[in-house]
Amino acid sequence: MRIAFVGCGAAGRALAVAWLRKGHAIGGIRARATASAAVRAIGAGVPGGPLDDADVVVFATPDDAIASAAAANRLAPRQVALHLSGAHPSTVLAPTGARTASLHPLCAFADLEAALAALPRAFCFVEGEAVDVAERLARDLTPHVARLDTRRKILYHAGAAIASNYTVTLLALARDLFVEAGVPAGVALEALVELVRGSLDNVSKVGIPKGLTGPVARGDVDLVKRHVAALDPATRAVYLALLEATIPIARAKGALTPAAETALNQVLGAG
Ligand SMILES: NC(=O)c1ccc[n+]([C@@H]2O[C@H](COP(=O)([O-])OP(=O)(O)OC[C@H]3O[C@@H](n4cnc5c(N)ncnc54)[C@H](OP(=O)(O)O)[C@@H]3O)[C@@H](O)[C@H]2O)c1
Repeated sequence: MRIAFVGCGAAGRALAVAWLRKGHAIGGIRARATASAAVRAIGAGVPGGPLDDADVVVFATPDDAIASAAAANRLAPRQVALHLSGAHPSTVLAPTGARTASLHPLCAFADLEAALAALPRAFCFVEGEAVDVAERLARDLTPHVARLDTRRKILYHAGAAIASNYTVTLLALARDLFVEAGVPAGVALEALVELVRGSLDNVSKVGIPKGLTGPVARGDVDLVKRHVAALDPATRAVYLALLEATIPIARAKGALTPAAETALNQVLGAG
């Protein structure tokens, strides 16, 4: 396929090189000031070149510029307009007049070489009217490709934020508790990261719910009560919200007696 770009920074350049290596052709590359730099980094493409000879035009601008870039670039109905955002549905590209799709690589692009090395292990999520084209292009990046429901895409993005961003928040809360308990600050985070790595390995091997361990999974209600009593109000609120979300997982694991589940629900009610 012939692929053109509107905006071509960290993500666009990595994908362009990967697609080039798979035999695709790179056409026009447009940006406000960095089109020539993108062409140099990729080793192909035409700075400021045409979009109308491309099969696919990738809108690889930052998320908040996709809609305005789409409005400013009219395409033909035979073309596919594709963006790379995990947060926006493909329909934001409708003003182009082309068939629309999105392709979101679930990874962070550092420098070009690191991105190219990471891409084959990354998962790529695709959706849209032209999902077949997005899927074909995604398979040229990684074997890990799955489709999304366009209308519910924001839930996918919220899921990614919970798993990736809020893990950092949980580690910060846990680190502060370790430090309050007298653990040296430099040791606390390292110890917790190692602990979480073990949990991730476990979940990766046995899945959910089997990968859940700890007092809720064991139905150790007294220990949960002692945790709750020891926490300051803000941390307790987070703990109780997570407890509520954890009870069904422990139930699904089959390790929670009905009496323990009732007692845990009473802890939630009292909190
Ligand atoms: N970076 C990642 O790790 C990553 C991972 C997955 C998905 N994505 C997605 O990939 C897309 C691009 O992100 P990125 O990190 O590659 O951004 P980036 O490195 O900031 O690059 C953005 C590109 O868009 C151009 N640009 C900015 N505003 C523009 C406009 N109004 N019209 C035309 N070109 C414009 C910029 O060049 P000029 O300044 O010269 O215009 C630059 O070439 C986003 O949708 C993002 O969510 C990124």
